[in-house]
Amino acid sequence: MAKQLYNTIEDEIRALKKTRNAVILAHNYQVGDIQDIADFVGDSLRLSQEAAKTSADVILFCGVRFMAETASILCQDKTVLIPDLEAGCSLSDMIRPEDIRKWKSEHPNGVVVCYVNTSAEVKAECDYCCTSSNAEKVVRHIPEDKELFFVPDYFLGSYIKTKTGRKNMELWKGYCGTHALITSEAVDKLRADHPKAEFIMHPECGCTTKSMHLADQVLSTEAMVKYTHCSPAKEFIVATEVGILHRMKQQDPAKKFYPASEQAICPYMKLNILEKLVLSLERMEHEIRVPKAIAERAILPIQRMLSIV
Ligand code: 13P
Repeated sequence: MAKQLYNTIEDEIRALKKTRNAVILAHNYQVGDIQDIADFVGDSLRLSQEAAKTSADVILFCGVRFMAETASILCQDKTVLIPDLEAGCSLSDMIRPEDIRKWKSEHPNGVVVCYVNTSAEVKAECDYCCTSSNAEKVVRHIPEDKELFFVPDYFLGSYIKTKTGRKNMELWKGYCGTHALITSEAVDKLRADHPKAEFIMHPECGCTTKSMHLADQVLSTEAMVKYTHCSPAKEFIVATEVGILHRMKQQDPAKKFYPASEQAICPYMKLNILEKLVLSLERMEHEIRVPKAIAERAILPIQRMLSIV
């Protein structure tokens, strides 16, 4: 049968979305044209909440693999697709289930909090999950006498450790390779060049230890987008992956946004392009399905997180 022709690729995606009864979720780091066609754009927390309540049959997750896994864990009756199977996360690859099991065997009464940037197998070994927007709340929720292990992001962990003043909190030394490209020297230069700009940073930033005390705000990606919209400031230095600037500029075309590093481009997030969304919906590929035995355990730390926030 001849393939139907569409005026634009966006029209084709909209038609396929209808046929498949699909919802498109896109992370704030996706390329602009994917954000524009998505039903929801947001941070890891917002997207997992949207996944949990959708009535669609198919979730096309435009983000990276651990995010699609979280959606699959929360919606075991749905089909979760990812446009490119190679869209992984170097941070989530830095911790393995056996690393958690080892710590637990040494700390039988301890509590493990995993950042959402972890595989389903790692989540299955953990007690609580958290995202950058609720990590502080989750850590404060855990009784103070409990030894706590925070994995895998060292910089988010040390930021929360400083904020909460918690002493018995051990940190895994993982980091995000994209945020590591943002240096405190570049931030210092931008601050000198734009003295009126507010400096906002994501807690995954490798330069947090040196620049954190200078930051006006340390925020999740979604909180950053809200903050720049509500703040009376006209200029912002934004320390996170550059994809975030798309929504910021759309919301406030008259404001100026300076990326802390033009090189802070996540190679995995950028594997998703519109053409792959068409193929995903046409062929119903690539399905992310977390095995039931893992999903049944991994859902507990996620549900505990969602009940706290
Ligand atoms: P948030 O969007 O939840 O702030 O975190 C983004 C992320 O996954 C960075 O690796």
